[in-house]
Amino acid sequence: MAKRPKNKIVPVTFFVFLLVKKMDWNFQDISHQASSEAKAIGSPQDLEAFRLKYLGKKGLVAAVFASLGQAASADKAAIGKGANDLRKLVEELIAAKGAEIISAKIHEEREDFSLPGTLEDLGHTHLLTQTMQEIITVFEQMGFVAIETPEIETEFHNFTGLNIPIDHPSRDAFDTFYLEADDPSAKGRKLLLRSHTSPGQVRIMKQHKPPLAVIVPGRVYRPDAVDASHSFMFHQVEGLLVDEKVSFSELKGLLTEFCRRFFGPQVKMRFRPHFFPFTEPSAEVDINAEILGIQRKKWLEILGCGMVNPKVFKTAGYPEGKYKGLAFGMGVERMAMLKYGINDIRLFYENDVRFLKQF
Ligand code: PHE
Repeated sequence: MAKRPKNKIVPVTFFVFLLVKKMDWNFQDISHQASSEAKAIGSPQDLEAFRLKYLGKKGLVAAVFASLGQAASADKAAIGKGANDLRKLVEELIAAKGAEIISAKIHEEREDFSLPGTLEDLGHTHLLTQTMQEIITVFEQMGFVAIETPEIETEFHNFTGLNIPIDHPSRDAFDTFYLEADDPSAKGRKLLLRSHTSPGQVRIMKQHKPPLAVIVPGRVYRPDAVDASHSFMFHQVEGLLVDEKVSFSELKGLLTEFCRRFFGPQVKMRFRPHFFPFTEPSAEVDINAEILGIQRKKWLEILGCGMVNPKVFKTAGYPEGKYKGLAFGMGVERMAMLKYGINDIRLFYENDVRFLKQF
């Protein structure tokens, strides 16, 4: 900012003294002087000093009026008119200067609309939310309905109701984080964070009669050590289809069609026999990562599946032998890693917007 000119106003007492002494008001000189002083005014403070000098109680105009008493009567009219004219002039000068200072200030502070603005950085849908939505959309196209079930579960829904008894060895792999909160439905037992979305199967079957086709998306927890492909918390989408006639070939066909729609027609998958207490027979599905252009292990496991174990139907209260069902549970992180070429699961949880924006 340029420096403002200094206040060039001559001390008022000196000026008044000179003129009063002479008692001979030279209004032309005074007006001239006021006009040139006004030109030098650069700030509101200068303007106020100028006003006081001429219009203040001890200012020049007041001094001129005060001198009237001693003036010769012949001069009185001229002196009075001179004083009034001077006051008018100074008022005009002040008004003009004031307006000038205000507009200069406005100009100085005005926003420059031609400058490029600062854009707020918009967030981005999290890749996991996006992937989950993509998975749900494909299943919805195939007639499935999405339902959410609780993340905090009872041992019954997470284990026992799924044919995983307390002392069953396969429970180790699923064992999870227990809460301090008591399970209101089982004496002496605690609530827990679900280790898979399969408890949703039990909850849904207890509430709904077949035919049903549902998917259950959500978070699950396991006491796994964190590395590039494991996390103690991850996401799954559970699927369950129950009707009077459902076969394993339907399960295969459904999952194959799903993978083609999700990854594209080039996808290569393999079904591997496996064991789950709540499905019989059971399988795991791996996806060929190489074909999808991912440089890591050749096959990546994405889901567990099988035909619903009749023991689970019994838990649900379905009549014995009446229904068949297929079920699967897929890992959302793994799906996203394969589809978008991500090689470290930890990237999902860092919430770095630079990572998320790429998808
Ligand atoms: N719940 C199993 C898991 O988390 C996956 C699964 C779901 C298997 C449904 C079979 C049927 O590993």
